[in-house]
Amino acid sequence: MMNKHLIDPMDFSVEELDEIFELAHQIINDPKKFSKICDGKILGTLFYEPSTRTKFSFEAAMMRLGGKILGFSEPNSSSASKGETLADTIKMVSIYTDIIAMRHPKEGSAKVASLYSGVPIINAGDGGHQHPTQTLADLLTIECLKKGLRGHTVGICGDLKYGRTVHSLIKAMSRYEGTKFVLVSPKELKVPNYIKQEFIEKNHIEFMEVERLEDVMEKVDILYMTRIQRERFFNEEEYLRLKDSYILDAEKMKYARENMIVMHPLPRVNEIAVEVDDDNRAAYFKQAEYAMYVRMALMCKLLGVV
Ligand code: CP
Repeated sequence: MMNKHLIDPMDFSVEELDEIFELAHQIINDPKKFSKICDGKILGTLFYEPSTRTKFSFEAAMMRLGGKILGFSEPNSSSASKGETLADTIKMVSIYTDIIAMRHPKEGSAKVASLYSGVPIINAGDGGHQHPTQTLADLLTIECLKKGLRGHTVGICGDLKYGRTVHSLIKAMSRYEGTKFVLVSPKELKVPNYIKQEFIEKNHIEFMEVERLEDVMEKVDILYMTRIQRERFFNEEEYLRLKDSYILDAEKMKYARENMIVMHPLPRVNEIAVEVDDDNRAAYFKQAEYAMYVRMALMCKLLGVV
């Protein structure tokens, strides 16, 4: 299939994404049919940064396809702690595995890894830059729960500066007709200009930037909440000042549309009150479930087993 690696959400065309979503639907409907399709294949999971969902869902995905996994979740247990370069690590791991999912704190590291790898590299998050497989999960969730990917007003709230899932989602949604964005953040955490200019303004997409969530609750079809990214801040005081900027609770949900959905890449800290979990518009745990199926479909495609 397609590109050998997935580094950036724009690496695949809209048509290629449709193929992945179609396969994900097939897997959801008949998982048994795919349960041995990756027999003999090994996924390497190189996680230089913490993860629950991405790492586990990649691993569960490969196991459910009949393949095996090896990897680390703590870089200090790898030879990176002895000073091995990323290039050398990737050269080695690509000898032992058939496909690699890598998360790394440095922006651009997945691209670098792809230059040295003999097997497909999947970017599982590179610093504050991109998180393309989260975007696949986000798009599949929207496609399933909002009956397609076109014509949605997408509210994105929280840390739009450092949130890599936000950057990837804006890029991806900017290709679907009728998309509008409502960007909600403190002024210190606005979407970076390069994303705004290249993917929103250049495509003549209608958008607004506001600081108060309350003012726009009733405008959006999808509300994508995000965590303030403590680990990306250079200044702890600044983080502490901004960390509680937004808390979505049952009171605010009263102003939302009946058919609006609330998404969140997770983990959450306190930006969505637990009481919202019981609202039937809360889609974030379903989103995490779709993430596993879409990663199954992605690996099948990149490995060429379907
Ligand atoms: N959404 C996401 O990337 O979660 P983890 O950091 O737990 O992998």
